[in-house]
Amino acid sequence: MIKLVYNIKVYREVLRDIIQSDDVVVELGCHVGNSTRIISKLATEGRVLALDNSPEAPLAMNALIGEHPNVEFTKADVRLHETLEAVAKKIRKCDVLSVDLGGGYHPDTVFKVFFIWSSTLKPRATIIRNRGLLDFLHSSSSNEVIKSQEGWLQSSGNDGVPPRLKEFKLWSSKIS
Ligand SMILES: C[S@@+](CC[C@H](N)C(=O)[O-])C[C@H]1O[C@@H](n2cnc3c(N)ncnc32)[C@H](O)[C@@H]1O
Repeated sequence: MIKLVYNIKVYREVLRDIIQSDDVVVELGCHVGNSTRIISKLATEGRVLALDNSPEAPLAMNALIGEHPNVEFTKADVRLHETLEAVAKKIRKCDVLSVDLGGGYHPDTVFKVFFIWSSTLKPRATIIRNRGLLDFLHSSSSNEVIKSQEGWLQSSGNDGVPPRLKEFKLWSSKIS
C-alpha cells in the first residue's frame, strides 16, 4: 500500500490507520518528533527509526527517546546512500516507511528518496506527504494500469539500477 497525502492531519490519521504494534517504522523527516510521538505509541512492541538533518531535531528527539525507548534518532541527510545503508544494516525488516521532507517542496527529491528507500527496504506500506506528487497523481491519467500492492514499486523490482552504479548495491541483488 502506498498512501499519498498533503494535509498533516491526514498524514497522522493514515499513520494511525496503518501502523501495527510490532511494526518497524522508518520515518524520514521527523523534525522535532511531533509525528514520531504518535508513531512510537502505535508501534509499542516494534521500533521507530527516525531521521532528520535539521539542527533543531537532536535536542527534541533525544528528549522524546527518554520517554519512548522504542525510538532511535539519526541526524543525517536521507538523500545520501550511506544514510540508507546504515539504516538497512540496523533492521531485519521495515514494515512502514513514512516520508515527509516538507510537504510543500521538491516532489522530485521526495520521489527519488521514496523510490530508493522503498526499493531497498521493501515495506508493507509507505506514506508520503507531498503536495506536488499529489497534484501529479490527480492531474495525470493513463489507459495503462501498472500497480503495486506493497509499499514499494513492484513493477521496478530489482531491475531499476544499472549494475555499474555500485553505490546502489543495496538496492539490487544484481549488483555485487
Ligand atoms: C515538514 S517537516 C517534517 C514534519 C514531521 N514529519 C511531522 O509530522 O511533524 C520536514 C522535515 O524534513 C527534513 N528534511 C528535509 N530534507 C531532508 C533531508 N534531505 N534529509 C533529512 N531530513 C530532511 C527537514 O529538516 C524537516 O525537519
